[in-house]
Amino acid sequence: MLERPTYSTAIDIFRRQGAVIVPVEIHPYGYDLDQVEKLMQAYKPRLFYLNPTFQSPTGYIVPAEQRISLVELAERYQCLLLEDDPYRDIYFGEEPPRSLFAYDTAGWVIYLRSFTKYIAPGLGIAIVACRPSIMNYLIKAKLLSDSGTPLVNQKIFLHYFFNERLQQHMEKLRIALAVRKDIVEQELSATDWQWNSPAGGFNLWVKLPETVEIERLLSTCIKQSITFVPGAICDPLKEYKSWIRLSYSYLNEQLLRDGIKRLVELADSV
Ligand SMILES: Cc1ncc(COP(=O)(O)O)c(C=O)c1O
Repeated sequence: MLERPTYSTAIDIFRRQGAVIVPVEIHPYGYDLDQVEKLMQAYKPRLFYLNPTFQSPTGYIVPAEQRISLVELAERYQCLLLEDDPYRDIYFGEEPPRSLFAYDTAGWVIYLRSFTKYIAPGLGIAIVACRPSIMNYLIKAKLLSDSGTPLVNQKIFLHYFFNERLQQHMEKLRIALAVRKDIVEQELSATDWQWNSPAGGFNLWVKLPETVEIERLLSTCIKQSITFVPGAICDPLKEYKSWIRLSYSYLNEQLLRDGIKRLVELADSV
């Protein structure tokens, strides 16, 4: 089972492994748990991949009560939950609810937290926590896929991880990203585009008017060094044709403001 929309690379990875994909809608309030239960009953999935905290691409947060129920459903229907949690520490106000893993007593959750979002793309360092019988498989699969993450990188990151400079960096990162998110929202406020303001993460999930052809907009934008993720590639069903994922994590404030202004102009013209 996969959320829809979801992190597009996850769709590709599961497809490449030959998985039969069962999509589950994620909403600003989380999931429809009756739908989740019906799908678990009907399809008996082995695994539900989810990103419940500042989800990519939507920024939605699954509330704490639903997290508890999901862990109960996983145990009842013997479906592993793969909790991908790279954005947890990028919150703009309150800290997000505890992980699903924190509620798991019977070992149905595999917890994955990448540290890429703390430092830079390509860091390639994450933690995984799960029951020992699954960990044995994961260690073998990881070794076979890349013969192990370089030790030097791990040692450097470990040193930083236990240093208070990392906490200072995270505090700055939360402020900087909140400022950038506000800039994007200010620039979009003059349009009739729709979005839910995320309380954390890197992305804004935005619905454009149906008259705008997203693929055409993207090719026009790329010629002007502007890019975004078209919603359809975040959907196992390839719908969400009027949606885009805008990331505010990379550019500085001025470039971001100029880029969004230009994006809005181009959307009006295509
Ligand atoms: C939900 C989600 N999981 C995983 C990743 C990738 O993490 P890494 O760069 O550590 O492979 C991303 C990156 O965009 C993501 O959004």
